[in-house]
Amino acid sequence: MRHLIASLWLCLFSCTTLAQTNQAAIATAHPLATKAGFEILQQGGNAFDAAVAVTAALAVVEPAGSGLGGGGFWLLHRAEDDYQVMIDGREMAPGKAHRDMYLNSDGQFEPDWSLNGPLAAGIPGVPAGLVHLSQKYGVLPLETSLQPAVQYAEQGFAVTVGYQHLAGFRRDTLRQYPEAARIFLDKGEVPAIGSKIRQPDLAATLKAIARQGKAGFYQGKTAERLVTAVQQHGGIWTHADLNNYEIIERKPVSGDYLGNQITSVALPSSGGLVLMLALNQLATFDLQQADLTQRRHWVVEAMRRAYFDRSRYLGDADFIDVPGHLTTPAYGRELSRSIDDDRASSSDALPLNEAAGENTTHFSIIDQHGNRVAATLSINYPFGSGFVAEGTGVLLNDEMDDFSAKEGTANVYGLVGNEANAVEPYKRPLSSMSPTFIENDQRLMIIGTPGGSRIISMVLLGLLDFVDGDSAEQIVAAPRYHHQYLPDVIQLEKDGFSEAEIKALQQRGHAIKQMTRRYGDMQTVIVNKQSGRIEAASDPRGEGLAEVRLIRP
Ligand code: GLY
Repeated sequence: MRHLIASLWLCLFSCTTLAQTNQAAIATAHPLATKAGFEILQQGGNAFDAAVAVTAALAVVEPAGSGLGGGGFWLLHRAEDDYQVMIDGREMAPGKAHRDMYLNSDGQFEPDWSLNGPLAAGIPGVPAGLVHLSQKYGVLPLETSLQPAVQYAEQGFAVTVGYQHLAGFRRDTLRQYPEAARIFLDKGEVPAIGSKIRQPDLAATLKAIARQGKAGFYQGKTAERLVTAVQQHGGIWTHADLNNYEIIERKPVSGDYLGNQITSVALPSSGGLVLMLALNQLATFDLQQADLTQRRHWVVEAMRRAYFDRSRYLGDADFIDVPGHLTTPAYGRELSRSIDDDRASSSDALPLNEAAGENTTHFSIIDQHGNRVAATLSINYPFGSGFVAEGTGVLLNDEMDDFSAKEGTANVYGLVGNEANAVEPYKRPLSSMSPTFIENDQRLMIIGTPGGSRIISMVLLGLLDFVDGDSAEQIVAAPRYHHQYLPDVIQLEKDGFSEAEIKALQQRGHAIKQMTRRYGDMQTVIVNKQSGRIEAASDPRGEGLAEVRLIRP
């Protein structure tokens, strides 16, 4: 069941809306989260209620990837009026944050400070996002949509191989914080497969949000516990920071790629802009006629230039001026002119940091009415900062590492930034999370994945495969490659590429880093508008579940 592909053929005639089929599809990184989403749809909820249920369920059963202590972006499409909006629930820097807060007395960046413990944590956005989604777009009470997550937190979920891997990766950090170790480890060790992780404190926090809305997290007892514990352990949160946290609704980034309409996330995620930067370059080449090596060469060169502009220009647009031309086709054409068809360009080399366990989570939903949600949520590194405030069950993020702590210095994903993404009070760190819709006359797709800086390149490859007509199953399983300008190297995932394919790229002057593992956990839903067929696929690299079901009217 790891990557179940389900599909139903219900339309005998041309059928372009799901209202006629009563089908819904959900793809998430955990079977219990997919189940929670369908439970809510069966109770009369819409895709937005299901997104609340899935977000909260993932916060419980996939604690390494996202949670109430983190943030994220939900991209919505409302079927009745084709309204599309990005819900920005990204973490926000606390009021006492300042640009040099992760530099030691010698002016050197201290990665430990921005990755481990509560100084690394931004003010969480997921609790506010749950309330906002439910109250503004849902039809069910928040309490109903949060119920599956409360149940999972009280009854526990079973430890899997994936959980073990990530808990092992972060064990030393979790051990530093007794409350986190008590919940997520077993006497300081990685728990056994099948053993249960129960989170009664987290269930109580979810119930407080269900009863009181935002105040259940950002005020009162939960806030008191969070602020006290964070400050006791070297963090800088205040009650005012929590009280002031707001969800921001933003206009998505949109663009056209060879007749395909792209809708993706705006700043503070770099995802939509970097995707359009790359696609506008690629539109100048004939990818479909090219052989595999030529195609990969062009895609890598487009990635290189798109990630370069990410590092130069991008940050929270509420704090900086971002050049307006970045997503124009004319600028894409201009960038592509410097691409040599046969030879790799050069970026200044930096040592490669192959982040061993970047995390985050993505889910894709379409309901029986055609409402859609693509959501990517994160606490950044696996198990975030590793810190839990006693009595809350809330594992805090380490999203402050997504800021550029020092100009030209790489973060944990090897991403280099500058002034545009410097730390400032109340600013939101630049993200790579890229929940995206793509649509043409025949099909539409909801897509996204975790994976740190590689998120955008994975989504880019998925979009190109969609344009080629690939199925959901093919798209999530395809081998992945990545270039992010610096380090100047193509990262190839393990097992995806033959020796001859690698050699062909090297002959064009590309440096290759063969990774020791596969990466990503893509969750995809595709609707074929003509046939009414829906496909949903969960990445074979992960432990998720994608299903298409009939929802009774
Ligand atoms: N923390 C990963 C990202 O937002 O890009």
